[in-house]
Amino acid sequence: MATNLLFAFAIFWLLPQSAFCITRHYTFNIVQHNVTRLCTTKSIVSVNGRFPGPRLVAREGDQMIVKVVNQVSNNISIHWHGIRQLTSGWADGPAYVTQCPIQTNQSYTYNFTITGQRGTLFWHAHISWLRSTVYGPIIILPRRNESYPFKKPHKQIPIIFGEWWNVNPEAVINQALQTGGGPNVSDAYTINGLPGPLYNCSSNKDTFKLKVKPGKTYMLRLINAALNDEMFFAIANHTLTVVEADAVYTKPFDTDVVFITPGQTTNVLLKTKPHYPNANFQMAAQPYFTGLGTFDNSTVAGILEYEAPLNSSPANQNKIKLYKPTLPNMTSTSFVANFTKKFLSLASTQFPANVPQSVDKRFLFAVGLGSSPCPKNMTCQGPNGTKFAASVNNISFALPTTALLQAHYFGQSNGIYTTDFPASPLNPFNYTGTPPNNTFVTNATKLVVLPFNSSVEVVLQDTNILGGENHPLHLHGYNFFVVGEGFGNFDPNKDPANFNLKDPIERNTAGVPVGGWLAFRFFADNPGVWFMHCHLDVHTSWGLRMAWIVLDGPLPSQKLPPPPSDLPKC
Ligand code: C2O
Repeated sequence: MATNLLFAFAIFWLLPQSAFCITRHYTFNIVQHNVTRLCTTKSIVSVNGRFPGPRLVAREGDQMIVKVVNQVSNNISIHWHGIRQLTSGWADGPAYVTQCPIQTNQSYTYNFTITGQRGTLFWHAHISWLRSTVYGPIIILPRRNESYPFKKPHKQIPIIFGEWWNVNPEAVINQALQTGGGPNVSDAYTINGLPGPLYNCSSNKDTFKLKVKPGKTYMLRLINAALNDEMFFAIANHTLTVVEADAVYTKPFDTDVVFITPGQTTNVLLKTKPHYPNANFQMAAQPYFTGLGTFDNSTVAGILEYEAPLNSSPANQNKIKLYKPTLPNMTSTSFVANFTKKFLSLASTQFPANVPQSVDKRFLFAVGLGSSPCPKNMTCQGPNGTKFAASVNNISFALPTTALLQAHYFGQSNGIYTTDFPASPLNPFNYTGTPPNNTFVTNATKLVVLPFNSSVEVVLQDTNILGGENHPLHLHGYNFFVVGEGFGNFDPNKDPANFNLKDPIERNTAGVPVGGWLAFRFFADNPGVWFMHCHLDVHTSWGLRMAWIVLDGPLPSQKLPPPPSDLPKC
């Protein structure tokens, strides 16, 4: 008996890692369903009639097969935000980039394997503003025979920030693009789809409650799925320990407030009080605001509630105190800068940080707002009667009417895109000084071609045109290392000397400081067409987006396979 058991164990440990991996099947039906918030009932587009949508749960190494069936009148596509998609670019999801959208009554099966990632990511619709209601968590557990680099948490809870509009968000962005003005702001922020008690007309069941036991460690999987706002988050009288960001372990650090941009995910450990505190604790989130326009300056709140011991009477529970957290000022750039600096890769032997030490391809991208001329016979509501636009190196990226990846794969770029995206601004100016008089952007579909495995450095430089802003830039298909950041204009002679090439944070979304710059590096080891854009949807809609083409490598495993047979047609 004992020897048998021993034998079984020996076999278990001798098996290769991949032997523990499984294939997980999901079906996402895209449907309309009614939801009531802030006394308004409306029909929203959702996955399986759930808002927020269902969780994808996997272990590192698992293969995911998600069949998406479109049962609504909108075109749809789903993006698995932060998933590396190594040689599975057809499953990435951004509409008109890696695929044509899934049309009404059509379906598409996304097939990808989770490689070298563990932690929290999320999925969301990647067409127009449908992600306002079509989003949900991706939970990646460590491999079966692997543990966390911290104490195993008692429980894990996704905390997703979102935005709620009483009207249809599609109408909001369509109208804004028509008139050229800024889109209407949302009516509320939400935690797990709920706005909380601080809004007019919100009921008790509109509040997210986290019930905990004393003396335990909980892992909160924070996800910012809001469309247009970076958020501060805190829980009264509780310190949080950051342990992971964008599905990469970090060096742990303690903080009372977490700052998180749209597109970012952060795992934090919450240690509950050793004894029943006879009090409740509010958790709250507010936006960080750096632009010139209007914004929703409201507060979403939830409650951290300790389960009362059995002997406490209900009468006592009514007298229970509620503590409230203190959040930074909504314009506190200094808090954001200090907090961002604390993120460092764990960079352990087991989870190393493979930072490119030298650079093959260098880019300087000026990112920010701009404008487009108002069409004849129209009045526009953007700056000085123009239309709002946004750009990278003054190019406001125009999405084609077919998918870029298809055009690339079949060698049919003619009339769809060109490969002359400027490596640096064509007309350099004092980016963070007085803006130039002409703020017009160029509309074009230009891409950058990268040889396989080249080591790439990108400096993202915020511009002051129509006001500087903290822009959360997101790169598809990759994680990058944030090797440096600062305020003012990037100085190529001075700043690289201070780059961190040892343990910089590795992530898929990072905020370019308002009136400043951010430098990142990555190895272009994943062939395909990869979108890069500001994760504030209003800026993406205005054109703050571009795409990279990464060429195939020499080995069969370094080539993009042919498209799946059910790839949607435009
Ligand atoms: Cu989460 Cu291209 O986006």
